[in-house]
Amino acid sequence: MILGAALLPLPMAAEKYVPSAEVMKSREEFANDRFGIFLHWGIYSMFGQGEWYLNYGPLHSEYSKAAKGFYPADFDAGEWADAIKDSGAKYICFTTRHHDGFSMFHTAQNDYNIVDGTPFKRDVLKELADSCADRGLKLHLYYSHLDWGRQDYPQGRTGHTTGRDSTVNDWKSYYKFMNSQLTELLTNYGPIRAIWFDGWWDHDEDKTPFDWELPEQYALIHRLQPGCLVGNNHHQTPFEGEDIQIFERDVPGENTAGLSGQEVSKLPLETCQTMNGMWGYKVVDTNYKDTPALIRYLVKTAGLGANLLLNIGPQPDGELPATALERLRDMGKWLRENGETIYGTEGSPFAAQNWGTATRKGDRLFIHILNAEGTDIHIPAALKVKAAKEFASGSKVKFSSDKNGVTLHLAQKPEAIDHIVELTLKK
Ligand code: GLC
Repeated sequence: MILGAALLPLPMAAEKYVPSAEVMKSREEFANDRFGIFLHWGIYSMFGQGEWYLNYGPLHSEYSKAAKGFYPADFDAGEWADAIKDSGAKYICFTTRHHDGFSMFHTAQNDYNIVDGTPFKRDVLKELADSCADRGLKLHLYYSHLDWGRQDYPQGRTGHTTGRDSTVNDWKSYYKFMNSQLTELLTNYGPIRAIWFDGWWDHDEDKTPFDWELPEQYALIHRLQPGCLVGNNHHQTPFEGEDIQIFERDVPGENTAGLSGQEVSKLPLETCQTMNGMWGYKVVDTNYKDTPALIRYLVKTAGLGANLLLNIGPQPDGELPATALERLRDMGKWLRENGETIYGTEGSPFAAQNWGTATRKGDRLFIHILNAEGTDIHIPAALKVKAAKEFASGSKVKFSSDKNGVTLHLAQKPEAIDHIVELTLKK
């Protein structure tokens, strides 16, 4: 035994995070919600080339001039919240400060923000927070760990072309700045259900060891709002102190976009995905996924026990794009009829099949047939089925069981976006 070892302070990372009762309640609420809307809005929206535009070449000194011209005349937080509420989403996640470093809320840490730095002078986050609270929508805040403008931010993998003096590199000052902003966000805008970090990957741990000092930052969040969840889009298995696990552009367990591959944890899960291609508004990006594709994606994530955080890039004038509004309306219509099989459910007890997946609520198992090849649907699970009926009409569905599982015998090949059969399982 090393003499005096007992007197040494424990390193932060070794301290075990014990989630509070408030956090556990938020986690449960979050997992029941299943559907949220992501909003990427900032001065980058003005260039109409997505939220990474600054990284692709313009000098920060030129780019930042856009702030002085930012006047989203048609912005109406109530209209956004109405459209989102009507879509069946239960929460929003709003970009308070993206990688370009512009704050979409009133911060006292610098003038590069929506109130002090633009002619608009309105705290859009405050307006959104109030509109969400009025309608019972929960509020999550996206916050970028990296910054392509500030000189004190230690240069990472990205943002090398912005003309920033990267020799300054004052982590202490930058860390203090972030924590002061987080304190503002968690003090001035009412209950925040989650802080959603992004940008950790700018300092790839294996190549350039970098200490983001996350435990202390996470503890600050939990101290300021004991029910606030911490999530980090770092594409790794969750770190100590985190409350949800985030997947980007892929459902948990898949890796078609090349950003995943991490283990799926036991924490509540969330997949973020775009309605079209880019997160921030991009003029040429009109390639919206159609309504059936979005609904099926929602069902697929729910089948994996995960939430879908579906993104919209609002326009520079403050409006949500017309196609996005149409998709919100259509998803709302579908969820009003079928939401019972999505909200508050658990994932499927069997792996996703070519024909679809399932969600579960107690002894009710909802079979979601998304893509049937015929009238027989084979469920590869030893289920003890008491009854089977069409979810929409309530009419009985024939089924048979053998040692390989249960087979549903439908009257005709389903053509719906999602044909749902409800099974009642024996206790
Ligand atoms: C990526 C991008 C970022 C976007 C985020 C959303 O990390 O850097 O622009 O905000 O994904 O998931």
